[in-house]
Amino acid sequence: MAHEPLIAPSILSADFARLGEEIAAVSGPGDGRADWVHVDVMDGHFVPNLTIGLPVVQSLLRTTDIPLDCHLMIEDPDRWAPGYAEAGAHNVTVHAEAAHDPVKIAKDIRAAGARAGLSVKPGTRLEDHLDTLRHYDTLLVMSVEPGFGGQKFMPEVLDKVRTARRLADTGHLNVLVEIDGGIKEDTIEQAAEAGTDCFVAGSAVYGAGDPGRAVAALREQAARARQAAR
Ligand code: DX5
Ligand code: ZN
Repeated sequence: MAHEPLIAPSILSADFARLGEEIAAVSGPGDGRADWVHVDVMDGHFVPNLTIGLPVVQSLLRTTDIPLDCHLMIEDPDRWAPGYAEAGAHNVTVHAEAAHDPVKIAKDIRAAGARAGLSVKPGTRLEDHLDTLRHYDTLLVMSVEPGFGGQKFMPEVLDKVRTARRLADTGHLNVLVEIDGGIKEDTIEQAAEAGTDCFVAGSAVYGAGDPGRAVAALREQAARARQAAR
C-alpha cells in the first residue's frame, strides 16, 4: 500500500545566502510543513553543476529538525555517502550510474544510521538495478536530467514509478518511491496516480510567494490524485 504523500522541498531553488530562513519557511505547523528537506549535492563532474557539500549539510542539521534527504549527484559516492549518514541525514541517495559497489554503499549508509536511497537518471533502466534495490530503502526516480532546477517534467519515467509501486505493493521490494524534477501543480497528479510516495519540488515551492502554502497545495493535490487512483 502506498504511503501518505510526503513533500520534500528542494533547497536548490532557495536563496543560498538564507538557507536557514528558507527551511524555516516550510517548517510551520500543519500541511505546509515539509516532511523532508531535499538537499542536492552536486560535484561538477557527475553533473555539470556545483552546489554544496557536507559542511553545509552539517550546519543545516543544526538548524532544523525536519529530516534531511541528501541527493548525491557526485562521482565516487562509495567514498562520500557514508559521511552524510554519519552527520545525521535521514536519507542518503546515491546514483546507480555513479556507484561502484551499490550494495556496500547501502550497507555503509544504513550502518551509519540513515536510510539508503538509489537514484536512476531518466535514461537508466530500472530492470538493471532491481537486485540492488533490495538493499535500499528508497528509489529516487529522476524526472529530469539531474543538474538543474526548473526543468520540464519527463512523463515517460512514470513507467518506472508504476513498476516500483507494483513490486512494492506485492512485497517484492520494500522501497519508498520518490520522484524528482519538474514536479508542480500540473504534473504532481500524474506522478501521484502512478504511485509515487515522496515528491521533491524545488521551483514549485521556492519560486512561490509563500513556500509553506505551496507545500500544502502540492500535498493536497497529491493526496486527492492518489485517492482517486485507488
Ligand atoms: C535536479 C535536482 C532536483 C531539483 C528539482 O537535478 O535533483 O532536486 O532541485 O527542481 P525542480 O523541482 O525545480 O525541477
Ligand atoms: Zn534532487
